[in-house]
Amino acid sequence: MRSTQLVAIIIALVVVAAIAYFLGTMSQPQQTTTQSTPTAAPGPRKITFYTWWAGLERFAIDAVIGNFTKKTGIQVEKTAVPGGAGVNAKFAILALMQAGSPPAAFQVHCGPEMLSYIYVAPKGEGSFVELSQVAKEIDMTVQASEVLSACSLNGKIYALPVNIHRANLIFINRQVLDKLGGSVPKTLDDLLSLCNKASSAGIPCLLQAGADQFTILHLWEQVFLAVAGPQKFIMFMYGTLPADDPSLRQATEIFLTLSKTFPTNWPALDWTGAVADLVAGKGLAHVDGDWVVGLIYNVYPQVKMCPHTSITPDCNIIVAPFPGTQGVYNLVIDSVAVPAGGPVTDLGIQFVKYFASPEGQSIFNPLKGSIAVYKNIDPSIYPTAIQRWEVEEYRNAKSYVLSLTHGALFSDVWQSLMQQSIVLVQTGRADLWYDALAKALATQRSLWKDTWYMGAPGKPFGGYQPPWVK
Ligand code: GAL
Repeated sequence: MRSTQLVAIIIALVVVAAIAYFLGTMSQPQQTTTQSTPTAAPGPRKITFYTWWAGLERFAIDAVIGNFTKKTGIQVEKTAVPGGAGVNAKFAILALMQAGSPPAAFQVHCGPEMLSYIYVAPKGEGSFVELSQVAKEIDMTVQASEVLSACSLNGKIYALPVNIHRANLIFINRQVLDKLGGSVPKTLDDLLSLCNKASSAGIPCLLQAGADQFTILHLWEQVFLAVAGPQKFIMFMYGTLPADDPSLRQATEIFLTLSKTFPTNWPALDWTGAVADLVAGKGLAHVDGDWVVGLIYNVYPQVKMCPHTSITPDCNIIVAPFPGTQGVYNLVIDSVAVPAGGPVTDLGIQFVKYFASPEGQSIFNPLKGSIAVYKNIDPSIYPTAIQRWEVEEYRNAKSYVLSLTHGALFSDVWQSLMQQSIVLVQTGRADLWYDALAKALATQRSLWKDTWYMGAPGKPFGGYQPPWVK
């Protein structure tokens, strides 16, 4: 089979999966049932793990799987549906879940994204293994209580965290910055004037990527965080922020100005292509999460990254908090969920238990560009200065919010905002975007169903208690 045919088949499968999912979410109410017990069945000790860590993002997950198999003899077949941020994988998994034939384990972000799976699953939350006990067994409850709060829904854990990524980062090509005679921007105004400088010199300022969509919404999100601050940001997640809050317009206007500095080929780039162009000096900067650190570490080993706090002479890429968001850690927490009641559920539990354990995370995070959730893991395990700096940043952060582009939106809301953010850049039609935001906030608000919240009783995530929690 030719590769073009293969690609066409994959695209067709993803489209069918997305349609099946949307038809289902429209017609299916949430159901709750009791947890079914996993049944052990004879047969090969083999499980399937669904993920989007494909291609240039495969190194960390492959290392974990290799070690797990060596240790346990359990084979893990990785089904990696390509597309950064899970743009395709999420809908493939949702459709399998809804059809009642889920994989043994799958990648998901902590946050309401997990609720999207619970809503389509035949038995609601009963379709997933509740993992609090496993978290205890691997010492996570003691060492990672804040992260567990972000991964708890009404006090229960349906997906175990394997890392902490940070979304509010800017990656700057040092040589291009020097050529412009600029310095690392600390405020949105600094960024706007630096981008002005770049544009006057004919250099694209922000290398964002439209082909896999997510870095466009990701940039809007960071501008919004800088303008609105953490409290309003969390209210966006709950849909309790009024749609006419001035921060939404202010952020959008700044975003539109910045979008004019994208390279002309932005719709054709995906995030890995944008990073390749950043490394090659085809533009000044890229706004993204620290999976970029993993990509550069694994794929461009000659490129030296440094935090903005210690720019060494040999530094090529400077990493800094997105201007105006210093002191905030915009969390992206990758986690693994295990569907309940299947023939290999117990093997799925063994996999997540290993992956999320200190050993699993010490293999995964150094290669992934993220940091482990355990406080007692020594920062010297990280190969890059960025990750060691991030350990400090995480410890000293004044507030923690959950990334809207990576976990804090229900999957339908997320997909529609991502598409609309592309339309916004292509057309400049802010009116359409404000409509999309109003719809997103209302849908987001209703999908919590006046029932769910993040965190545990009396300990809401981020200190914000949504109004429906008594
Ligand atoms: C995020 C995910 C990261 C990384 C990134 C790019 O959503 O949390 O682990 O995979 O997408 O694909």
